Amino acid sequence: MRSFAIFSAAVAVLSSGASAAGVTGAAEGFAKGITGGGSASPVYPNTNAELVSYLGDNSARVIVLTKTFDFRGTEGTSTGSGCLPWGTGSQCQVAINKDNWCGNYQPDAPTTSITYDNAGSLGITVKSNKSLVGQGSAGKILGKGIRMVSGVKNIIIQNIEISNINPKYVWGGDAITIDGADQVWIDRCTTSLIGRQHIVLGNSASGRVSITNNKIDGVTSWSATCDGYHYWNMYFTGSNDLVTLKGNYIYHTSGRAPKVAGNTLLHAVNNYWYDNSDHAFEITSGGNVLAEGNVFQNIDRVLDTTPTGHLFTAPSAGANSACSASLGRVCQMNGFGSSGTFNQANTNFLSNFNGKNIASASAYGGVVASVGKTAGMGRI
Ligand SMILES: *[C@@H]1O[C@H](CO)[C@@H](O)[C@H](O)[C@H]1NC(C)=O
Repeated sequence: MRSFAIFSAAVAVLSSGASAAGVTGAAEGFAKGITGGGSASPVYPNTNAELVSYLGDNSARVIVLTKTFDFRGTEGTSTGSGCLPWGTGSQCQVAINKDNWCGNYQPDAPTTSITYDNAGSLGITVKSNKSLVGQGSAGKILGKGIRMVSGVKNIIIQNIEISNINPKYVWGGDAITIDGADQVWIDRCTTSLIGRQHIVLGNSASGRVSITNNKIDGVTSWSATCDGYHYWNMYFTGSNDLVTLKGNYIYHTSGRAPKVAGNTLLHAVNNYWYDNSDHAFEITSGGNVLAEGNVFQNIDRVLDTTPTGHLFTAPSAGANSACSASLGRVCQMNGFGSSGTFNQANTNFLSNFNGKNIASASAYGGVVASVGKTAGMGRI
């Protein structure tokens, strides 16, 4: 840890110059201590092929993005049948009939002919020991997401934007997929205009993940709620996942922000949810959620239905002392403005925090200002 701290400090000093490269700061929460590509000499991909190669090879790498990588149209298009389960209006998303999804699950929905971009369907493979870092506000990937799957480990994604992945089409692609990985840190990224999920942790165990200071931008022209608010945002359903969600700006969504299930311990702390047309949290069996020090502003329903998982919302000073035994401190209350209720005091899962790296929490009063300064790409 000591050498890593020195490395970060060196980068921080260099950052005041023009040509700094590398990761800023260090992961907090469950993924604390990870090094990504470590001190490998930075590489600067020029083409899509170079980016794919650096991310997918077996070398530890610091990969710095200084430009936009546009994958739209690079793998052709597919024309086929789709369906309209959410309505036929021009603001509604259309579902691709992937694996006969329409036939199996939406047999009564009207069908339509669709054309979508193939590049969005599957993200770029990211192997172990990588740092993927954007320079300033230059690092963008369009039309394709990234995937950390099948046992990869020790990956840092910082200060990039992922956007324009078949936004009209459900099953058109995800921005960030983590499935059967461990020690992943997603920091200061922006995702927008995505067909399916902004961040999805698949059903395999994904170990320790920290998702911090990101902007989930749900503004879209096509949504499953047909109102300009994106429905599929964060999906945490892994079989053995520890997820720290801290300092994120979760904006203009209408559902699954996040959905939590499987066997997931989610620590949602000091995030700012703003402007949601339906619900934020959906928690079903196996979802264990501690939500503290967050701000909910204009969130119709903070919680979809009474959770069948476990939820502690740090509801009162008295109740919050229950955190001390496992987190080593009291929990922080959440703040609400023009939002629905969020009041559950299930404490029987808090012992799952014992012995883990746990993110700090500050009072909700400073969250809007701090998230405004740090969340999303281009703030370093
Ligand atoms: C990642 O880096 C660690 C530490 O250097 C090394 O032991 C491990 O083999 C690397 N993993 C892969 C898949 O390259």
